[in-house]
Amino acid sequence: MTDFSDHAYPPASHVGKHSAVVGLQWGDEGKGKLVDRLAGGFDAVVRYNGGANAGHSVVVGGVRYALHLVPSGILAPGVLAVVGNGVVVDPERLMEELDGLGARGVDVSSLVLSDRAHVVLPYHKAEDALREELLTAAPVDSASGPKNAVSAIGTTRRGIGPAYADKVQRATAIRVGDLLRPELLRSKLELICSMKNAIIRGLHPAEPTPFDAGEIAERMIRIGERLRPLVKDTTYLLHDLDRAGKSILFEGANATMLDVDHGTFPYVTSSNASSLGIGPGSGLPAQKVGQIIGVVKAYSTRVGGGPMPTELTDETAHRIRERGREYGTTTGRPRRVGWIDLVALRYAAMVSGVTEIGLTLLDVLAGFDELRLCVAYDTPDGRTDRFLPDGFALAEAVPVYQTVPGFGDEISDVRSFDELPEAARRYVELIEAFVGVPIRTIGVGPDRVQTIERDAVLAAGGGGA
Ligand code: IMP
Repeated sequence: MTDFSDHAYPPASHVGKHSAVVGLQWGDEGKGKLVDRLAGGFDAVVRYNGGANAGHSVVVGGVRYALHLVPSGILAPGVLAVVGNGVVVDPERLMEELDGLGARGVDVSSLVLSDRAHVVLPYHKAEDALREELLTAAPVDSASGPKNAVSAIGTTRRGIGPAYADKVQRATAIRVGDLLRPELLRSKLELICSMKNAIIRGLHPAEPTPFDAGEIAERMIRIGERLRPLVKDTTYLLHDLDRAGKSILFEGANATMLDVDHGTFPYVTSSNASSLGIGPGSGLPAQKVGQIIGVVKAYSTRVGGGPMPTELTDETAHRIRERGREYGTTTGRPRRVGWIDLVALRYAAMVSGVTEIGLTLLDVLAGFDELRLCVAYDTPDGRTDRFLPDGFALAEAVPVYQTVPGFGDEISDVRSFDELPEAARRYVELIEAFVGVPIRTIGVGPDRVQTIERDAVLAAGGGGA
């Protein structure tokens, strides 16, 4: 008789042994650089949410890589790069990204793709763009104030929302595994395209190009054949790694403030972009992740619509945007810029359960006479230091600032905490004290090596995971 004992549930000793990196603001915190630095110490790096809306840029040896779907761990030799079931995959963009990495000499043979990840198809992108146009064109009664106005989300138009909507609708969804079954794919697409064409014509009667099911199917079947060797049941794969005592790093895309349940709804993305998405998006239970690193910019940025209480529109914003190169990796859009919002940050750290913080882009703040940190909001119901995750309520929050001295000196070459100007150290310690989570690394430039490690300081202070 076959011995199935080897297939028993993993031992409890593996609880808490894995790690995660997750953004705590509105994205673009520099997660890619951190994942890239850490990846070599893990056996696998896993994406569990989002799709080609994400843009992780990593600079290695002076070469900048912009990754959208492929986990940043791909740049670490010998590390498995896993795209989990919670990701929505645009197969054409994925092929472009793989070809681009291959052309630059990056070995992409360690990529694995979940057969259960959902597929973004051309009609998703069309619907995403069309909905945004309709929202942009919708008349807004400015007299009723931001609380009562609905405006465009400012999506990346990568089809993310419509693809996740199809996942929840079920019958009209295509998963990566379906790309490997031509007959099923053709018949599914036949039905789906007739429905999508009707929806798109309904949204925009003048829309000229209905989607041709046969043409999309043949394109996807060809890509499916190329992807076939990469496609696996990644839930079993991750559990097998876990059982074998291997270490896994989860790479969050987008960020906690964009989480569909816990972010500034409706101005969010369509997945659980906090660490809470790890379980459903990978199939590995969350209690197996013990170290959760929250990545935080030394200031705030946001791309797209939605409230951002500390937003600046003056010369300070301009300086931060230019110094920080705050233009979208995915869309090239200039990012909105503001002071750090500690109320939002403490909430995000709580929701994502972070055990430590990686602070990034501190160098961008050099040269300001003073710096501001938002420590409370004034709202129609009074002053509060609790975050308001409802997008319409947050639109009415007025930030209350603590102002501290700035630091004049450039810090890009600093490699230890003690060498930072005193005002920079105080700024870091203020964030740490307010959020209540140790700041373990500080980024002072885009390259891998431009990072200050604070292990000794944290050990002395008793913090750290
Ligand atoms: P979607 O994910 O394309 O639907 O966009 C929804 C909102 O999330 C928009 O405001 C986007 O600008 C924002 N967004 C999505 N992904 C990212 C990201 O990786 N960084 C920053 N903003 C993002």
